[in-house]
Amino acid sequence: MNSKNELSAQLASRNLLDKSHIDLTDEQVAFFQNNGYLSIPRITTDEEIEWLKGIYDELFTDRTGEAQGRYFDLAGPRAHNGQETLPQVLGPEAQFPELRETVYFQNAHRLAAKLLSVATENVNGGGHMILKPAYYGNETPWHQDEAYWNPEVLPHSLSVWLPLDKATLESGCLQFIPKSHKGEVRWHRHIDNDPLVHGLVTDDVDVSQAVACPIPAGGATFHHCRTLHYSAPNSTAAARRAYILVFGGPPQKLDKPAHRPWQKEEQEALAKLESLAAPNRVAS
Ligand code: NI
Repeated sequence: MNSKNELSAQLASRNLLDKSHIDLTDEQVAFFQNNGYLSIPRITTDEEIEWLKGIYDELFTDRTGEAQGRYFDLAGPRAHNGQETLPQVLGPEAQFPELRETVYFQNAHRLAAKLLSVATENVNGGGHMILKPAYYGNETPWHQDEAYWNPEVLPHSLSVWLPLDKATLESGCLQFIPKSHKGEVRWHRHIDNDPLVHGLVTDDVDVSQAVACPIPAGGATFHHCRTLHYSAPNSTAAARRAYILVFGGPPQKLDKPAHRPWQKEEQEALAKLESLAAPNRVAS
């Protein structure tokens, strides 16, 4: 038995585990719960970032899931033919289930549960990817994620935001309004006041309070589903690729649904678009 080799193999695998296992201090958890956001310099390995870039680029090049509504321009009207400024892929784990086995996914899941104070087995999540192309990537205007969601429940959720490229003010790192998660969901409207644009914006925000969180590729920011956040247009020569995971504990059913008329506006506009696109029925 070659115990020396065995020992070094064990040490090597432990080092690998140590390198990929990220934890949060009690101070970081308290900071998140008090401010509604948190920034950490690393959530996954450089090797995994390189691997993720390959999958990411394939999904965007192939416009994966476009026919099923899982690929669209967040900042442009549905099915527009112009240059895309904020393309998004929903649910990339459906195409690549191995994304759920990544160091990123596993760390994000465990840390999300810790920040939400919910047992990991009761926390579920999935991802989406938002690309800000070089030079012309649009801003992601101020919004709260909860404004997009089912008005019949009170979610207990957060987002984990991983950039695959260095996220700076100029390339579109996230910016937050501290403590905004403690207030209500603000009034939102569709970007350009066009209900066919999926992206939402709120005008009810004091931007002088904004805190920008630049992070390296492989770092992460966390934000509560009610935290106001924004990212600037990408004015750099490189794309800014972000892979976002949303995790939540069991939501609470509301007695009375929240009032979110912007959601109804979008549903009606989409229904109208579909009825216009449908072929005319031939009378029999
Ligand atoms: Ni958001």
